[in-house]
Amino acid sequence: MGTKKTVSVLGLGRMGGALARALVDKGYEVTVWNRSEDKPTPPNTTRVSTPEEAFKSDVVITCLSTYEAQQPLLTNDIKTLVNLTSGTPEQARNTAQWAESNGVEYVDGVIMAVPQQIGTPQARILFSGNENHYVLDAFGEPVHVGEDAGLAALYDLALLGLMWAAFGGYLQAVALMGSAGIAPERFTPMAVSWLNEMTTLLPEMGEETQSRQYETEVSALDINVAGLRMLTEAGREQGLDTTLPQALHDLFERAQRNGHGAHSIASVIEEIRK
Ligand SMILES: NC(=O)c1ccc[n+]([C@@H]2O[C@H](COP(=O)([O-])OP(=O)(O)OC[C@H]3O[C@@H](n4cnc5c(N)ncnc54)[C@H](OP(=O)(O)O)[C@@H]3O)[C@@H](O)[C@H]2O)c1
Repeated sequence: MGTKKTVSVLGLGRMGGALARALVDKGYEVTVWNRSEDKPTPPNTTRVSTPEEAFKSDVVITCLSTYEAQQPLLTNDIKTLVNLTSGTPEQARNTAQWAESNGVEYVDGVIMAVPQQIGTPQARILFSGNENHYVLDAFGEPVHVGEDAGLAALYDLALLGLMWAAFGGYLQAVALMGSAGIAPERFTPMAVSWLNEMTTLLPEMGEETQSRQYETEVSALDINVAGLRMLTEAGREQGLDTTLPQALHDLFERAQRNGHGAHSIASVIEEIRK
């Protein structure tokens, strides 16, 4: 009672280093391991030269670049594995299965934050499967998202997908504006308020995708397909890469061809679900 668990962190990259420092700040006894020696040892941690030495701790946290990197390191000497390496839901489920059949306690988590936010309430850590979050509260706010061990990874990729699409759209827009000499600092405030306004439409769009009722008085897919064609052409005229608008155009146009021209944009999900 009252004795804190000992914790090991495998991986001292940008995120692993931040995790180790946060654990030290919260008073844990922390052991760290990294494949190469060039990464600095976080203050007040014990560095070991093999993963096996790190497995002596009560809890082992993995934060490596990919599952491919971490899988060969895992053995049934681990008592509790808190997996914070990003991957697909299937990879998370397979690792949960591996843990169960090897007598290793397992929790799968994803970090919805950048290293600089670790240890603050802004860092949300989504975790799934096992409801015991072990040491995750040292990093920020742990949120259990469901029993299926693959769910945290699913949320992670869905949210990142949203972010990448928005960032890609922003960069396309900045390039387009830049082609006419408009600097990002002039355009960005307008982009931010536009995105804020547009995200208020998401709840209604979500409902439409559930009810599959796409009647609209707001904006039909037809005019959005025409708009995407213009955006693609405008990019081409300005000598820009048009991969992104072209891909969106092609997807939206397929939904249009399949009878959704008069429907709302939400109807595009019928194409995606295929
Ligand atoms: N950075 C972020 O903002 C952020 C946010 C959320 C989630 N994450 C997730 O956190 C994880 C780590 O990201 P990071 O930003 O810390 O990456 P990073 O700075 O590139 O560090 C990668 C780490 O993985 C190790 N590694 C790579 N291949 C390996 C192998 N074959 N065997 C053993 N170790 C290997 C590296 O070791 P070496 O030093 O030996 O190369 C290093 O410790 C990723 O899954 C990432 O998606 C990161």
